[in-house]
Amino acid sequence: DGAAPPARKPVARLFGAAVRPDQLTDETPLLQAIRGCGLLVPEYHGQWSAVEWRRGDPWYGNYDAICDFAEKHGQQVRGHSLIWEQMTPDWARDEMLHGKDWNTIERHFATLLPRYAGRIREWIVVNEMIDTEHGDHGFRRTSFQRAYGNDYVRRALETARVLDPQAKLMINDYSLLYDNPVDEARRNQMLRLVERIKASGTPLDMVGLQGHLELRKGRISQPKVARFMADLAGMGVEVAITELDVLEDDLNRPVEERDARVAQAAQDLLDVVANQKAVSSVVTWGLSDKQSWLQDRLPVTKAAQACSPIDCGAMNRGLPFDGEMRAKPMHAALQRAV
Ligand code: XIL
Repeated sequence: DGAAPPARKPVARLFGAAVRPDQLTDETPLLQAIRGCGLLVPEYHGQWSAVEWRRGDPWYGNYDAICDFAEKHGQQVRGHSLIWEQMTPDWARDEMLHGKDWNTIERHFATLLPRYAGRIREWIVVNEMIDTEHGDHGFRRTSFQRAYGNDYVRRALETARVLDPQAKLMINDYSLLYDNPVDEARRNQMLRLVERIKASGTPLDMVGLQGHLELRKGRISQPKVARFMADLAGMGVEVAITELDVLEDDLNRPVEERDARVAQAAQDLLDVVANQKAVSSVVTWGLSDKQSWLQDRLPVTKAAQACSPIDCGAMNRGLPFDGEMRAKPMHAALQRAV
């Protein structure tokens, strides 16, 4: 009838970054950028081994510092994470594998969830549980999986819900975005897992896609990622891009070209995100290249050089700001997506 179609209301989407507690104290350009975030995630100081390295003696300094800062600046905090093999204390591994007693998990969750109820409103309950190549029915063989079987993911979500009924509960994994057989199998496994979790009535509110992009893998398949996100949304979960950064493949090109390729990789993903209402947040894995974990993951360079990439001036440039906190095209891409 000639009426103009209603303008599409932009989706409220949170943008954020991984931070380290020691970055929150001194007035630096990095701190200004951190203040601009809507959502903060501890990069690795929030993991089990960083909280309770001695059994029964948890230290809350890191989460407290991040929560205090976030509250002062009107920001949200995401807990990262309750279960992750890589940062599980040795004592806990031993205890789980010997006792096979769920009480080990309950005690751990009880040290964090009730204490931060209302302050940390979403938790990654299980991080990195999928392995379609060497796993058991698609589940990574971890201490958790060995001690409690593949059902541990579901049980962990149930336990978390009881200890903080208001918190949004997430699972989070990597290698889910590219157009290759491994990522394809991993996407299918994630869909099967979410389907089973939902069918059993187990609480699950969000699925995190890490978003560690790698230029050597080519470009992501936008249609496949869009389909995947839509399938997840159809099962009633929010989707989050939880750890966006870009690993370069060729440091010998001119810097402008490198930055353009990095920004393009991010843009490819942000374009998909823009059309997916279910995607409620995008978090980059740090802000400045100088503090990026990717410096240790550079393909050949690191091994071939006697000094660290930062000292050699051959940094990976996969985050919004360079080592001197100058905004790069990736930053502009994120700004446009806000
Ligand atoms: C990384 C941190 O960035 C590093 O500083 C730390 O040494 C190891 O962990 N997947 C995750 C993140 O879920 O926690 C990891 O972060 C990167 C891979």
